Amino acid sequence: MVSFSEHTHARLPVIGGPMYPCSNIELVAAVSDAGGIGVVQPVSMTFVQKQDFREGLRAIRKITTAPIGMNALIEKSSRRYHEKMVKWVSIALEEGVRFFITSLGNPAWVVKRVEEVGGVVYHDVTERKWALKGLEAGAKGLIAVNNRAGGHAGKLSAEQLYDELSDLDVPLVCAGGIGSEDAFIKALSLGYAACQLGTRFIATEECHSSQAYKSAIVKATEDDIVLSEKITGVPVSLIRTPYLQRMGTKAGPVARRLLQGNKTKHWMRMFYTLRSAFQLRDASIRQPPEHKKIQQEFWQAGKSVAGIHKIEPVADVMQRFEAAFEHWHRDDNELRRK
Ligand SMILES: Cc1cc2nc3c(=O)[nH]c(=O)nc-3n(C[C@H](O)[C@H](O)[C@H](O)COP(=O)(O)O)c2cc1C
Repeated sequence: MVSFSEHTHARLPVIGGPMYPCSNIELVAAVSDAGGIGVVQPVSMTFVQKQDFREGLRAIRKITTAPIGMNALIEKSSRRYHEKMVKWVSIALEEGVRFFITSLGNPAWVVKRVEEVGGVVYHDVTERKWALKGLEAGAKGLIAVNNRAGGHAGKLSAEQLYDELSDLDVPLVCAGGIGSEDAFIKALSLGYAACQLGTRFIATEECHSSQAYKSAIVKATEDDIVLSEKITGVPVSLIRTPYLQRMGTKAGPVARRLLQGNKTKHWMRMFYTLRSAFQLRDASIRQPPEHKKIQQEFWQAGKSVAGIHKIEPVADVMQRFEAAFEHWHRDDNELRRK
């Protein structure tokens, strides 16, 4: 099996997970520069950070020459969005990106484009059924999204997901619940090839999210993380706030019916995508004026909050992870020699 490090050329088995709206240029660059691989989220770069996509990739290159990745959310909820994604993939390839993470739809067209230039695609999955489809389409590794993840969480625990996928003979990346180096080593000890972190990297100096959002992550315990269908129609992990409690977490009966209908579900998803794009951007990035604070407390985070105790530079987080990894790697090698 080709390893994670051979696929990504990252020194450490850590992915800075793509995050709408929290992945900014400086954050992606910092994760790669510290030995992991930062993954660009193109909608964050163009819509939130208001950067031309090619210029944004070049701006990362000015900070670091270490490898980076790109996230392609490939659900075809609108033709215009799909055409944009095709263009972003082309630009990323032209600018030298060789690692891609696909989410939602069939990754075959991305795989075809990326493999032509010797790159590799990993596919996001929450269960075996999607893993088989992704591999059939040519993905070379899987991002196993578990029930502790920030963003769209899975249903299975990291252990259950590993059991479901470990015979597939590709690198498995644990996504969800990794806030501390202890959780990182636990996932590697289970057999995961690497970990993808989202929430941990929001609470860093390089992330442009608001101070209030970062502090809420530091203060939250895992019991404060709730799943809400109100944003995208499918469960998203959020920090419980008074605002969220007032809104409730379930999609209404009409929305639910539309989301299930064969004809209406794509339209409904597009509606949610557009609405959530604005809501999440405004809640996460801008510091709200004092009188609007309550309305803006709408923050995505996973149960990894349990291991996050400080807002700090990415390099400090990564140094701790690197030290823990080297220690574990040494012990692991010694055990094997005995
Ligand atoms: C705020 C936020 C936004 C996210 N947006 C995306 C996204 O646009 N695309 C994607 O593939 N994953 C997205 N994710 C998932 C992350 O890449 C990663 O898999 C997840 O955060 C791992 O769980 P953790 O937050 O417990 O570390 C998002 C996660 C968070 C917290």
